[in-house]
Amino acid sequence: KRVAILISGGGSNMLRLVEDMAGDHPARPVLVASNDPTAAGLRRAADLGIETAAVDHRPFGKDRAAFEAALQARLIQSAPDIVCLAGFMRILTAPFVDGWRGRMLNIHPSLLPKYRGLNTHGRAIAAGDAEAGCTVHEVTAELDDGPILGQARVPILPDDDAETLAARVLVQEHRLYPAVLRRFAAGCTDPLTLT
Ligand code: GRF
Repeated sequence: KRVAILISGGGSNMLRLVEDMAGDHPARPVLVASNDPTAAGLRRAADLGIETAAVDHRPFGKDRAAFEAALQARLIQSAPDIVCLAGFMRILTAPFVDGWRGRMLNIHPSLLPKYRGLNTHGRAIAAGDAEAGCTVHEVTAELDDGPILGQARVPILPDDDAETLAARVLVQEHRLYPAVLRRFAAGCTDPLTLT
């Protein structure tokens, strides 16, 4: 299977996916693309010999559809079977997402369905939750709402702030996403609970 990974920043999740695919794996990375030409993950992917692309969203202003048309054009050049959103910070419209139905994954730093959207860690702490975590799900038109493919949990500690909790969750993201992609690329969509 051919995998394209979309990033917006450092790409730590992208790196773990790429590293895992370097071994015996049903998938291989064919493109790492970002909406931000300055994303550090682009250079990290290029250093690993992976095709990269930047489709800057800024020239398109509020014309989301025009940006997505440019992104789609570049994506289909690489003919991916699977698209992984990994720290990709643009909301994708329903028509775009529908075009990748069943083939687009995302990792979200909360135990969905709790805390869709942003500032997930601060909200979990403010709510007094005992635990937090991350979720890999299929991307659908509703934000952070598609079928769940995997989750990993961490405790919230009394002296946690959003930063310390984010760091603890990120460690689990780096375990969960590769495990889920490996299964998904092999055709398995049974939800995975990492312990
Ligand atoms: C992190 O906040 C992570 O929780 C979320 O996207 C952000 C950046 O991730 N998935 P990455 O290091 O760019 O993969």
